[in-house]
Amino acid sequence: VDPTTIDAYDLAPEGYASEWDDQAPPGDLHDLLLRHLRPGPTADIGCGAGRDTAWLVDQGFDTVGFDASEGLLAEARRRHPAITFRRSVLPGLAGIADGSFRNVVCETVVMHLAVSEIPAAVERLLAILRPGGTLYLSWRVTEGADVRLGDGRLYSAFPASLVTAALDGAVLLHDSEGASASSGRTVHRLVAAKPGLYSPWGPTSPEGSTSP
Ligand SMILES: C[S@@+](CC[C@H](N)C(=O)[O-])C[C@H]1O[C@@H](n2cnc3c(N)ncnc32)[C@H](O)[C@@H]1O
Repeated sequence: VDPTTIDAYDLAPEGYASEWDDQAPPGDLHDLLLRHLRPGPTADIGCGAGRDTAWLVDQGFDTVGFDASEGLLAEARRRHPAITFRRSVLPGLAGIADGSFRNVVCETVVMHLAVSEIPAAVERLLAILRPGGTLYLSWRVTEGADVRLGDGRLYSAFPASLVTAALDGAVLLHDSEGASASSGRTVHRLVAAKPGLYSPWGPTSPEGSTSP
């Protein structure tokens, strides 16, 4: 985790939440998720103020939002009181058991990690999926060298191959890079399926889920 990034989000959670809410709806993200996710317990890792978590719940996915920023989690709970939001931090994701989720969504989060932490984060995102589960993972693309914005947030620069190499046997179902319909920034998006047959009964109960 990059503590300076989390401090930046903690300092002005309402401001960031309003900024994301003011952006156009992420129709491109929604299309991909509707195409690739399947019913079952779903984690939104790095959920921010819960905009996508709420959309997932509205689509019928039993979704828990996780984030490293207590400030953004408080904002998410205030905006979406019926949804469960918990603190968990990449790359370790302590408190989330292996094999907990049918779907894992991680929208524009991993670029806030040091490059050296990104492979472990990707491995952990796959580990919390059930066999046969779906990982949606995206990041904002920074060319050249890492950038730290004036507010303290880190945007690491890394090649997509750093992520795909860490996918460890997962089958890549989608791989694209382009301007986000929501923020207009360049975003790289991947969808991958974890090897193994999905069983609706699953190996463990979904950690933190509202229903088993
Ligand atoms: C650009 S925002 C994206 C928020 C949300 N996914 C969305 O697309 O609206 C990045 C989010 O990642 C969270 N974050 C940054 N580093 C994290 C880490 N190491 N573990 C968990 N969350 C992290 C931030 O607190 C913030 O909510």
